[in-house]
Order: sequence, then structure tokens, then C-alpha cells
Amino acid sequence: MKHETILILNLGGPFGEMIARRVRDLGVYCEVVPCGTAMEKVRELAPIGIILAGGPETLSGGKMQKPDPAIFSLGLPVLGISGGMQLMAEALGGETAETEPETGKLTVSYDADSPLFQKVPQEGVCQIDHRESVIRLPEGFEALCHTEATVYAGMANEEKKLYALAFHPEVEATQYGADILKNFLYEVAGASGDWSMHDYAHQAVETLREQIGDGKVLLALSGGVDSSVCAALLDRAIGENLTCILVDHGLMRKNEANEVVKAFEGRGMKLIRVDAGARFLGKLAGVTDPETKRKIIGEEFIRVFEEESKKLGKMDFLAQGTIYPDVIESGTEDGSVIKSHHNVGGLPEHIDFRGIIEPLRQLFKDEVRRLGLELGLPETLVWRQPFPGPGLAVRVIGEITEDRLAILREADAIFREEITSAGLHRSINQYFAVLTNIRSVGVHGEERTYDYTVALRGVITNDFMTAEWARIPYDVLERVSARIVREVPHVNRIVYDITSKPPATIEWE
Ligand code: XMP
Repeated sequence: MKHETILILNLGGPFGEMIARRVRDLGVYCEVVPCGTAMEKVRELAPIGIILAGGPETLSGGKMQKPDPAIFSLGLPVLGISGGMQLMAEALGGETAETEPETGKLTVSYDADSPLFQKVPQEGVCQIDHRESVIRLPEGFEALCHTEATVYAGMANEEKKLYALAFHPEVEATQYGADILKNFLYEVAGASGDWSMHDYAHQAVETLREQIGDGKVLLALSGGVDSSVCAALLDRAIGENLTCILVDHGLMRKNEANEVVKAFEGRGMKLIRVDAGARFLGKLAGVTDPETKRKIIGEEFIRVFEEESKKLGKMDFLAQGTIYPDVIESGTEDGSVIKSHHNVGGLPEHIDFRGIIEPLRQLFKDEVRRLGLELGLPETLVWRQPFPGPGLAVRVIGEITEDRLAILREADAIFREEITSAGLHRSINQYFAVLTNIRSVGVHGEERTYDYTVALRGVITNDFMTAEWARIPYDVLERVSARIVREVPHVNRIVYDITSKPPATIEWE
């Protein structure tokens, strides 16, 4: 079964993905493709409508990618957003010009009696961000809405179902933005809303069975959300032809490896747990440079994985938990690497597979979570916060030893426990403890101590590319601090990290 599809033509920046997430939340499947995608491919995807997203460039700057103008005469509904509005106006004979930049939250008046504004009040706040405006409408178009400074904050040719908005309906800050998008999908493009995780799970299982046949599939299970959901889905599709390998590099959080194994127990799945902690610690002895740590762990992981998979005999496919944001990102040009984000579960190069299986390629993170619940995985696993592949190695500053890992594990477990009991575990996107290499003077009873400082980190973020430090209530911090210094030996000082990203990164190394 093919889902009704909305095609999002992306001009770079975060907008395409944000729109896509909204559209999917509204129950309609969508795909994000580069703005210049060939018409042939557009036709092949057979969308019920097209959204032209804005991007960081302007038309007058000359660098803005343009869509094939034929998209406006396919007879399909099109919604241009922000820069997408300028593109639509220009392509259809209107005029745009550089104007006073208009940014931030402004009041917009929805003037027209349009299906796009059905059940939307006459006025609302909108998030606008443009340096260029439409100053003359293309023939056949009429104005839809205005702000104080922009006469044409929206335009439409209702007959041809071509619509455009100068503001961003996809962002939280725009009041009624979700209603407007919903109207475009359901009232204009005639969607029925056939995108649900229940149906998707069913369909994905069928597709995987067809694709894999009797083949044998190997999966590196890290315990993270993506690899876990991938395992559950493949288990449902092919059962015993799936083998999972859990490489325990000894750098996981307290009880983590056991919890993962427990979550999959009882499913009758082939799960091989490799306890390779000593081997990893041996390789990491004396290493303090963060990138060297990552490199060693990445290489060693692949070596262990290869050794184990060789013991299994011939495997046909390697499964990976790639998700949709990775797919969208690989289609764009962001070359700047800040940290080498080696993903545990990376591709071993020396094993001969017939192919790679990526069952989550079409899904956003929240959809992966919903799918996980649909497949019966426990909430604790499905809502697990992100955890870096190199694990606690990048949270023990300086040299990694068994003793220092043990201190961090205990402190981190206390912090996580208190965050959960305060009910903050869903609202803080990532929170963890770091064992610094600072030792300082303290006092315990009558005794002077000279012990470690533990740093706590908590961040609020959507995409982990930027993040704000979380305003954890003082009383929660107080409880965590008191418990750590009381319960964890060799820690006598706790600090809370109040830096956002940028300039700091989320991890300390
Ligand atoms: P930073 O520290 O770069 O982290 O702000 C952004 C997000 O990525 C995670 N992270 C990693 N994940 N391998 C991974 O798989 C890594 O080497 C790695 N380094 C950071 C980090 O936990 C955060 O969620």
C-alpha cells in the first residue's frame, strides 16, 4: 500500500524538516527532497500536494535554488512558505523586492475567506523572517492576509490551488499555524490522513518479509531507541532469521546492558551479548584525548563485531537504525564536523553482505518511538535519552579507569533517578553526570578530603545541534548533590553546567 504523499521541496536550513514533522503529526506521510528535484522524480512519487519550503538564501542574493516551474502546472495543490512564496511569485510572473527586514512575532490578519483559513480566527501572531517581499501578485492571484508592514503576507490562486504564505506556519510561535497546515492538507489537497504507526508497522513487516525472504539478518543492538525499535520490527518480520549482537564495551551506564537484554528476553530472539569491557579498557589505557578515545572505541567496536559475526557463518543482510533526519541531512551540504560522531553499530567493512536493511529510514524520532510502543517495547526503552556511542568514555574527563568509571556510573544513576522522580525526565532532553579531572579540598566529619568534582549537565533541545541548559529547580539539584556526596565515595563537590550550545557542546568531550 502506498500512502498519500506530500512532497516537500527543501531549500536548505531547518525548515523542510520542521514542516515534514508537522505534516506527519497531522497524519499525512511526506517526503523531503531537494528543491531542484527533477520533474520525473516528482511524478514518480505521485504526491497529492507540494510544499515549497523556505531556506536561508534570498532570491535577490542569486544563490537560491529554484524548482522546475512545471511544478506549478501539474494541477496539484502547492503551498509556498516564506522563500517559497517569493519563488512561486517570481515563477508565475509576479514581482519581489528587497524590503525592510521583517523578523520575529508579528500580528497577521487573515483577510480572505479561503479554505486555508477555515476555523482560523481573523487575527493571530505569526513568526516571520524575511528580507524580501512580494510587491506585485502574479496574474490570477489575490491577497490572503497582511501584517503591518507586508501587504501580501499570503497569496492564492484558489482555482489552481496555488497558495503561499510569507510567514512560517510550521513553527510553534505561529498561532493557528498547525490549523493552516492542516487545512492545506485536508481541505485543499484532499488528504484522508492515512499515516498511522499502527498501519505502518503492519506494512513495514510485509515489506521486510518481501525484501529479506529467507535471508539472514545481523543487527548491532546498542540499546538506543533506534537500534532497539529496529530489532523489534525485524523480530516481528523475520523472527529467528534475525541475530542481534550487543557489544558491551564496558562504557555503558549503570545496569544498562542488563536492561537491554531484559527488554528483549522472552521474545525468543537470538541475542548475543559480548562482554568486551576489559578489552576496550586495555586499548584506552593512558588515553586522554577525546578524539583519540572515540577513534579507538569505534575501531575496536567494529573489530569485536566482526569477530563475533564471523562465528555466525554467512549472513545476508546487515540492518541499521538509520532514521529520516540522517537521510535528509545526507542530501544537504553541511560539511562541518565538530566531533567525529561515530555511531556504535557502524558498518563493518570486511564482512560480505548482500545488502543493507534500514527499516526506519522513513521515520522521524518521535515516529520511531511510537512504532516501538506499537511493537510492545517498554516505555523506559522507547523514551531512553540519547547516549553517545563511545559511552561514558567521553564523560570521564582524562584517563578512563575501572575505578573512575564506577564513580561516574553511581553519580549518574543518582542524577537520573532524581530527575525521574521529580517528573522531569521527559522535559529535559538529555541529562547526565560528568566525572571531571578536578580534585579539590573538602571536609568529611573531622577529616580533610581531596576528592573529585562531578559536573551535572541537563539540556533542552529539539535537534541536539543547539541546546539550552535546563533550568532544573534548586531543590532537585540540592537533593542530587546531597545524595551524590553522601553515597558515592571519592566525590566531594558537585557543579551544575550552565552553558548552552553553542558555545559549549552537550558532551564535555
Ligand atoms: P555534542 O556533544 O556534539 O552532542 O553537542 C550532540 C549529541 O550527540 C551525542 N554525541 C554522540 N553520539 N557518538 C554518538 O553516537 C559520539 O561520538 C557522540 N558525541 C556526542 C550527544 O550525546 C548529544 O546527544
